[in-house]
Amino acid sequence: MSAPTIDGRRLLDRLNELGEIGRETPEGCTRLALSDADMLARNLVQSWLLEAGASVHIDQVGNIYGMIAGANNSSLIMTGSHIDTVSRAGKLDGCYGVIAGIEILQSMKDQGLQPEQSLVVAVFSNEEGVRFSPDLLGSRVIAKDIDLDDALAVESRDGKAFCSELKRIGFAGEASPWKFLPKYFIELHIEQGPVLEASGKTIGIVESVQGHSWWQVSIGGCANHAGTTPMSLRKDAGMAAMRLACLLESLAADASLPLVATVGTFSLEPNSINVVPGRARFTVDFRDTDNARLREAEILLQREASALEDQGFSVQLQNLSRAVSVPFDLDLCDRLESAAVAQGASILRMVSGASHDAQMMAKVCPTAMLFVPSISGISHNPKEKTLPGDLVMGAQLLTDVLWSLANKH
Ligand code: GLV
Ligand code: MN
Ligand code: MN
Repeated sequence: MSAPTIDGRRLLDRLNELGEIGRETPEGCTRLALSDADMLARNLVQSWLLEAGASVHIDQVGNIYGMIAGANNSSLIMTGSHIDTVSRAGKLDGCYGVIAGIEILQSMKDQGLQPEQSLVVAVFSNEEGVRFSPDLLGSRVIAKDIDLDDALAVESRDGKAFCSELKRIGFAGEASPWKFLPKYFIELHIEQGPVLEASGKTIGIVESVQGHSWWQVSIGGCANHAGTTPMSLRKDAGMAAMRLACLLESLAADASLPLVATVGTFSLEPNSINVVPGRARFTVDFRDTDNARLREAEILLQREASALEDQGFSVQLQNLSRAVSVPFDLDLCDRLESAAVAQGASILRMVSGASHDAQMMAKVCPTAMLFVPSISGISHNPKEKTLPGDLVMGAQLLTDVLWSLANKH
């Protein structure tokens, strides 16, 4: 039996329809985890899974599973991703992998096909980690990287517990997060960076994901009058924070290192033109393929925090998320490569700069990822785009590979 042929038009239309949920600017949408917009998106995706004939299950951390039972229902082959977004996101990050998975199930139903092993599409909770840290929360629980109880107790930026928000949106399920442990996991995603496009290749075979370390930094100084306080007598928390942010940026600026450092949020108190800031808060996102170098960046941050304390500032550092660099299963990568080449695609073996649920699933079973190019390498931005033909080709490739794994003896 050959693999189902997907309906590319339906895939693209559904990506657009999902991308309308949480839309707040002409192009961008914001669907933070467990927000009302996330709830509406979950409801829509659940209805598509049911339409495709899948049985739908929700686990205790809010992960959604859509399953088609195989004829020889002995093991699970899983694909999936996430539908929560960062603020002002595009339509593809995460959603592409989920909708492509649903498209496979729907095409199987339309074409009257049943695989030998069961196929599952997973929609993981809180991949982005913008509202609740750490990120990758749903897949972290499955991988036992965090305890279920600790995950449920995580508090949002706005002071709400993960478990109460899950209940509020109707996705506090009863299934165990370990009920659907797969034999293989493959995640399809847009690259979200410029490497694939620059290489001129159409499919990325992802061999590993780099690690990350996220921090909340809070620096206390002394709020004071901007006109009367001489420069030598102020304790300006804002300037201390800006100097530290520049130092972290310069640490990562060595182009020979893969280390990247980002200060993505920054706030001052009281935030007035004529007041020396008494408090500054910012976040740091370090990423590196080398776990030891990531650790060195953390140590440097801690050392600089102590130096500021020696100068009379108070400094609090809070780790928000950590994930080590993870290699994927090379046999599975080879399998993806053969399928891509058979389909006429040109391939690039690569490292993922972005984090993905697959890096947690790699602790559970043989795992790999497929990337399609991102136009101009833009992502986490409403301008995030991939050529429609590339989206359809990537989804058909995922279909071919899952179908062959689900019928392998
Ligand atoms: C998720 O997209 C991340 O890499 O932060
Ligand atoms: Mn993603
Ligand atoms: Mn993302």
